[in-house]
Amino acid sequence: MVETSDVQRGLEDVVALESRICFIDGRLGRLIYQGYDIRDLAAQSTFEEVAYLLWYGRLPTHQQLADLKHRLGELRILPDSLVRQIDQLPADSNPMDVLRTAVSALALFERDETKPGASSIGGAQRLTAVLPTILGHFHRRRTGQPPLRPRPELSSAAYLIYALLDREPTALEAKVIDVCLILHADHELNASTFSARVTASTLSDLYSAVTSAIGTLKGPLHGGANERVMELLAEIGTVDRAEEVIKAKLARHERIMGFGHRVYKVEDPRATILREWSRKMGEAAGNLHYYELLRKVEEVVHREKGLYPNLDLYSGSVYSLLGIPPDLFTPLFASSRVSGWTAHVLEEYQDLRLIRPTAKYVGAIDLTYVPVGQRS
Ligand code: CMC
Repeated sequence: MVETSDVQRGLEDVVALESRICFIDGRLGRLIYQGYDIRDLAAQSTFEEVAYLLWYGRLPTHQQLADLKHRLGELRILPDSLVRQIDQLPADSNPMDVLRTAVSALALFERDETKPGASSIGGAQRLTAVLPTILGHFHRRRTGQPPLRPRPELSSAAYLIYALLDREPTALEAKVIDVCLILHADHELNASTFSARVTASTLSDLYSAVTSAIGTLKGPLHGGANERVMELLAEIGTVDRAEEVIKAKLARHERIMGFGHRVYKVEDPRATILREWSRKMGEAAGNLHYYELLRKVEEVVHREKGLYPNLDLYSGSVYSLLGIPPDLFTPLFASSRVSGWTAHVLEEYQDLRLIRPTAKYVGAIDLTYVPVGQRS
């Protein structure tokens, strides 16, 4: 029998499995992908290189990287039948719901790619390549614009901007989106990755696992936080109001989005990197409004509550400066995290054990059944 004290609410600190993919040192504020520090990867690598690293456990050679880029470019095109399905979805749908529905539907057209096991690497690449196209197609349709022609030669970062905004990014914009993709690619057993692994652990297929993960990422305590940060900035308005608004929220025991983390006890290293990019983007745009507001919010939240920023605090400011609508922020997160989800699913298939924890039963027992006709 499980004792109450044995119940770890939210599975906090429970070590559920062994993994080689990602390590978080919550006390030192370090994040490692397959042995490489996130700071080195963000400074020197690209999203394609990081995706390769997550899937294969090693950095690619020049040729392997070129092959992967070529493959991802080829895999961007949607089947016509899926395009028709997306076109029938309500134009005011939440883009995360569209993504979840489209990935689920895609599985019906690509049954070979969905088979569990080593062959799923093809599915991992397909999903990583196609998510921006799904988002771009839906976004253009809802804004009354015609579909775009595929651009297989663009990098993943440049393609995201092109698919969403119908323009090629500047070098700075392409770099900042690439950094965002790298920083969001994996994060150990976060809630969405865990749900992907739970689905895969039943020997279900890769596309089902990613469908589960997208649904989990949608929530505001997980991927949805970056959109809420921008709502908070709009509510605050000007730097001089930050103190008053944040204190009032904390007094009402409201959560301040973009702060706190289950694992990090110090600043999230991804926030440290993104803060710098938010400043650079602001300077390039001649608009440091978001950056200055966020710095003030950070100061107040840390002083009043001792909380540090997480990844989501600065990402929304970067996307907003690029002109990306707020309801696409979480789908952008998904467009990167899909590389990590699929790496974890592949790892799960290699060392499969059904994930099935136990609950402490706190309900009634031995009640006497009364037939429905005799109940008052
Ligand atoms: N604002 C105000 N108070 C907070 C916050 C916050 N953002 N985060 C934690 N706290 C407080 C919480 O109220 C509690 O205080 P008390 O002990 O006085 O009741 C204490 O800190 C511990 O909170 P907890 O909920 O037990 O901590 P957790 O490990 O379950 O929470 C979290 C982790 C991320 C859900 C939480 O920090 C949170 O809700 N943050 C805001 C949402 C957010 O920014 N999410 C993005 C996470 S990073 C990217 C990702 O993985 O998606």
